[in-house]
Amino acid sequence: MFKLSSAFVISALAFSAARAQDIMGLSWNSTSPYGQSTGVFNLLESTYGYSMVFADGTSTLSATYDSASQTVTQVCPHAGLIAAMIPVEGSSPSTFTIEWVDSTVILPEGSSTTSLVPGNGAFLTTMGTPNGVFAQNGVFKEFSVDGTYVFAWADETFQENQDVTAWIDISDGSAITC
Ligand SMILES: *[C@@H]1O[C@H](CO)[C@@H](O)[C@H](O)[C@H]1NC(C)=O
Repeated sequence: MFKLSSAFVISALAFSAARAQDIMGLSWNSTSPYGQSTGVFNLLESTYGYSMVFADGTSTLSATYDSASQTVTQVCPHAGLIAAMIPVEGSSPSTFTIEWVDSTVILPEGSSTTSLVPGNGAFLTTMGTPNGVFAQNGVFKEFSVDGTYVFAWADETFQENQDVTAWIDISDGSAITC
């Protein structure tokens, strides 16, 4: 009962927080036992499109969210790519990289292009298990894939992660140009 109703609250919040087609600038912040940081995302070519890596400096990464199709579409720097959650094979807890892909690309089984939702100034996901007091499913974080740290989401609690937890922050992206 409790799990069902908190999942409902998350999606209700998410859908009211951003109007479809508002351009959002995307950056990250993180919190860990060692402190807090912020930065921007660089895009790194990956098997299916582009993954996101933590960077400093300024970024042009921006996107829109369409609540009807539930897709996040990149505006800059690669207009039209959509955000996908792609499972990392063999991961436990279950971990998905967040990548930007062409909508025609065939993704591995279990991938989703409709599970990221804007809410409370950051992206949340409708995947996974509601995460107690933080009212968020799982944690977003950097994850090493073949030795490269890329941005990902894992179906675990903050306590289980015991390391840096990050968010994809949303700001007004209307002034961002490619
Ligand atoms: C990071 O962003 C999230 C979502 O916007 C926010 O809830 C959290 O307080 C921020 N954390 C820090 C350390 O700024």
